[in-house]
Amino acid sequence: MNTEIINDLEWRYATKKFDATKKISSRDLNTLLDVLRYTPSSYGMQPLKFLVITNSELRIKLQNASFNQAQVTEASHLIVICAHLETSANHIDEMTELMSTIRSIDIDKLKGFNNYVKSALKDLSTQEMLLWNSKQAYIALGMFLSACARLRIDSTPMEGFEPDKYDELLGLHQQGLTAILACPIGYRSEEDHYSKLKKVRKPLNTLVQFIE
Ligand SMILES: Cc1cc2nc3c(=O)[nH]c(=O)nc-3n(C[C@H](O)[C@H](O)[C@H](O)COP(=O)(O)O)c2cc1C
Repeated sequence: MNTEIINDLEWRYATKKFDATKKISSRDLNTLLDVLRYTPSSYGMQPLKFLVITNSELRIKLQNASFNQAQVTEASHLIVICAHLETSANHIDEMTELMSTIRSIDIDKLKGFNNYVKSALKDLSTQEMLLWNSKQAYIALGMFLSACARLRIDSTPMEGFEPDKYDELLGLHQQGLTAILACPIGYRSEEDHYSKLKKVRKPLNTLVQFIE
């Protein structure tokens, strides 16, 4: 067993109280943003946008839209993971062009891939498309939480907010986006008794089944 990985995961917890005086270095922040960038997504469509919010007035308003959870204002940075409202044919074309450029592949050779993605998504309703895009946001969250733990940066995965209010405060709909997850990051306060609690996890043998 790789104990380093497990130590990271035991170290992290959903932080309830941050030390508001401690700030994340720009080096660490850049590493974490790159982790978000490297997140895999279905067909590589990356239907996501990541907001890094430091503006204190805005964060007070966002805290009000987050059932008053103090992490939103006390953490060093607030990350909001947004999904595109839809994955349009235009977006699929843009991503295909990006692939063509980065891998130096003639765009005509990617026509099959482009059509395949378009046909896979064409029958999805607006709601189904948003759900598909949102699933990609959760992958980003998982990668992000692990990377934070590696850097000994505390984090709180958060669904506990009113997405409509976030969308309005952040002007997201105008950009074709909606807020899916929030994740305050920073350093735990000594007073956060949650940091001392044992992890509640099902035993491995009830969680994992081997099929040989
Ligand atoms: C998708 C998701 C949404 C969550 N939303 C909140 C939240 O809004 N506020 C909060 O304090 N914790 C939130 N949590 C934290 C969970 O309650 C926590 O991860 C879980 O109880 C396990 O504890 P641990 O993360 O401390 O190991 C959320 C976790 C996940 C994965």
